[in-house]
Amino acid sequence: MEPEVSIVTPTYNERENVPIFVKELDEVMCKHNIPYELIIVDDNSPDGTAEVARQQKPKCGKIKVIVRKNERGLASAVIRGINEASSKYVIVMDIDLQHPPSVVPKILEKLKEGYGLVVASRYAKGGGIENWSKTRLLISKGATLLARIFVPKSSLTTDPMSGFFGLRKDILEGVELSPRGYKILLEILAKAKVKKVADVPYVFRNRYAGESKLGGKVMLDYVLHLIKLARETGELRRMFVFSLIGLTGIFINEGTLYLAYEVLELKSLGYLGLAIGGFLGFEASVIYNFLLHERITFADRIKELKTSKLKRFVHYEIASVSGLVAQLVFLLGLTALGMNYLLANFIGILAGLAIRYTYSTTKAWGYS
Ligand code: GDD
Ligand code: MN
Repeated sequence: MEPEVSIVTPTYNERENVPIFVKELDEVMCKHNIPYELIIVDDNSPDGTAEVARQQKPKCGKIKVIVRKNERGLASAVIRGINEASSKYVIVMDIDLQHPPSVVPKILEKLKEGYGLVVASRYAKGGGIENWSKTRLLISKGATLLARIFVPKSSLTTDPMSGFFGLRKDILEGVELSPRGYKILLEILAKAKVKKVADVPYVFRNRYAGESKLGGKVMLDYVLHLIKLARETGELRRMFVFSLIGLTGIFINEGTLYLAYEVLELKSLGYLGLAIGGFLGFEASVIYNFLLHERITFADRIKELKTSKLKRFVHYEIASVSGLVAQLVFLLGLTALGMNYLLANFIGILAGLAIRYTYSTTKAWGYS
């Protein structure tokens, strides 16, 4: 029987996990009556993973074992597996049982409903992580925030770093995925022609046997990968344009203050006049920046967004005020710590810019 879904599983030294994974997966698929193919992409593991994989005899699906002799790496193994899949629906998951097979039918169901990409999420309602320390959770959350900034479409899912997801193959047509990339789902979110993404919750379990292959160097790799994706997809350029427009806003701000203070004669009110002028200047620059961000910085996204222009403006206002507050906090805080006030203010300006941009790209003009 033709498989209804292809399941792609990369492996490296996982011989102990293979039989139990195949057994659990097969039970689930038999129970739901889903004919499937399991594609195991093994990088010639010295522990004989491929040998063990070939010996498995699932009842409701067939197994294809691909052994790569000259390549190593999780992401490129996944891409290879997707390319070999014979079904139009592909589900990618790990073999160590941290990704529970019971979630597979739910992912397939969503794919059949018409979602091009379905993410099994640890952070969706009902999902979770077994036994993670506070530190590891914090790192994961921090990494997710970075993803939201550098790959804005990552906001379409609650767990853009998941290694457990399903896709309809046609969303990858004409898309060049980089095998150097480490988080393959991010790569897909950044580049694929996908509009509808669904999340399915799952609990990330402890490993059944063996240990994680993703060690310390992975964090640096991750940040480099994000920057590379941002460059390829024009997000770095967007950051630059955003900053430049912000810079020109200074003239609007100063000009408005001058007009209010001198021409409208707020001067006569003394400090109160100065405060009102300062406020008007700030507000004028916010409006000016907003209009340019609508027309230039984020023009390409406007059609795809669900938020109204008014809502975007309110968000941008919040972003700007937060940025200003951050700037003042840095100015006062760092000066109090003994730093030169001009340097402190400069750091404050950069921090304010970072906050304005983050809030703008994820909220005001964000996809979620
Ligand atoms: N072919 C191949 N080549 N497979 C590999 C390689 C490799 O170089 N490195 C790892 N794998 C396989 C492992 O055998 C396992 O099946 C899967 O990829 C995941 O590797 P783990 O070492 O278990 O990763 P993890 O548990 O730390 O992280 C996983 O889960 C996270 C949460 O979903 C990964 O999938 C992460 O990408 C994901 O964020
Ligand atoms: Mn794992």
